[in-house]
Amino acid sequence: RTRVAVLISGTGSNMAALVEAARAPDSPFEVVLVLSNRPEAGGLASAAAAGVATAVVDHRPFGKDREAHERAVDAALRRHEVEVVALAGYMRLLTPWLVGRWAGRMLNIHPSLLPKYPGLDTHARALAAGDVEAGCTVHVVTEGVDEGPVLAQAAVPVRPGDTAESLAARVLAAEHALYPRALADFCRALS
Ligand code: GAR
Repeated sequence: RTRVAVLISGTGSNMAALVEAARAPDSPFEVVLVLSNRPEAGGLASAAAAGVATAVVDHRPFGKDREAHERAVDAALRRHEVEVVALAGYMRLLTPWLVGRWAGRMLNIHPSLLPKYPGLDTHARALAAGDVEAGCTVHVVTEGVDEGPVLAQAAVPVRPGDTAESLAARVLAAEHALYPRALADFCRALS
């Protein structure tokens, strides 16, 4: 089974979906580490409760030195013999150094149908554009933000009266189904 680390910054509901999926006997991956750049991330407690090793590498002591922070993150990943990194609500821009170190072995989930709406505020932007559907994308991480090759997408309808919050909740439910499936397919193709 492929050794996966999940990187989070907040709630970690996608992380929880990946941890749950990894419990299946036929899962091609196991989650060996949940790492957060924020000590207060809610996902840390749920990961620990699920029996998964956790680590915090706070970015704040590193100030503007992004690469130094990433070197500490990378050291934790190596210590846990991680093979694949799954970003799940990890709200840090990555430098080419970390991206290069995990080239072809780092995935991200993004709450839009890429190439539409890279970056932040995806749901408000979809509503403002009058889109009739929204969704989420799992992609391989490359240097350009939210630009790497798409592995899988899921669409959901935009409904009359939707707010960014109601749409986000519908997309998030789709994320929880999409990410475990896309990561499993990716890991099966690796081995
Ligand atoms: C998810 O919707 C994820 O797609 C998004 O943050 C949320 C995290 O929720 N990621 C990004 O916006 C990445 N730029 P979670 O912590 O409950 O998984």
